[in-house]
Amino acid sequence: MSSESPEFIHPTSAAAAFGKKPSSSDSPEFIHPTPAVAAFDEQPSPHGDLTSVLISKEQLASRIAQMGADITQDYADKNPLLIGVLKGAVYFMTDLTRRIDCPLTMDFMAVSSYGDAHRSSGVVRIIKDLNEPVTDRHVIILEDILDTGLTLKYLARNFHGRGAASIAIATLLLKEGTQAVPLDVQYVGFTIPDAFVVGYGLDYAQHYRNLPYIGILKPALYAE
Ligand code: PRP
Repeated sequence: MSSESPEFIHPTSAAAAFGKKPSSSDSPEFIHPTPAVAAFDEQPSPHGDLTSVLISKEQLASRIAQMGADITQDYADKNPLLIGVLKGAVYFMTDLTRRIDCPLTMDFMAVSSYGDAHRSSGVVRIIKDLNEPVTDRHVIILEDILDTGLTLKYLARNFHGRGAASIAIATLLLKEGTQAVPLDVQYVGFTIPDAFVVGYGLDYAQHYRNLPYIGILKPALYAE
């Protein structure tokens, strides 16, 4: 593998991303495989713009607590730098970091890959850069959703280029079967079907982020 980029192993399916140790010092060697949790137990929607609730606030809290415990175990002596990708990861980051019981620091990056569209354009634009250097830091990138993977691929390469000691990815959601690029992901909250989801940080045209659960948006609302 190239020394210019982190190790991108894999997968078209979430399962392939786990239980696989990285073979390079460029990737964390302390991966604690986190099994993806399928959350297809759809519930009726309390919101008129949604077809259903995909993941309840109770399911979110429970899974994020587990992810926090896993990260605590893996990074106990690493003083990790958690980088939240604005805006979508903001609720995930604030809840996850409160479930991590070891020293850490936080920073934020704002990028845009969707604009107001409902599909990734593939073009990643930096809107806000980091405030602190990643050099020699054990970075964990926090994302709300991994769809094509283009955003995370860009960020992982970017932080690797800045000299991070290691780079891991924690995504709350992973869409099944939509990845356009191979990407090694250490922590996944929920593997979800290829639907347009909103809430808990996820938006459509900047709306719905403040819903306390994750729901499926009615297709008629974004049909072109
Ligand atoms: C969304 C999401 C991820 C990215 C994932 O960001 O928050 O950052 O798209 O898509 P990908 O895997 O296809 O690259 P968006 O550009 O909508 O910005 P936002 O976080 O402000 O909503």
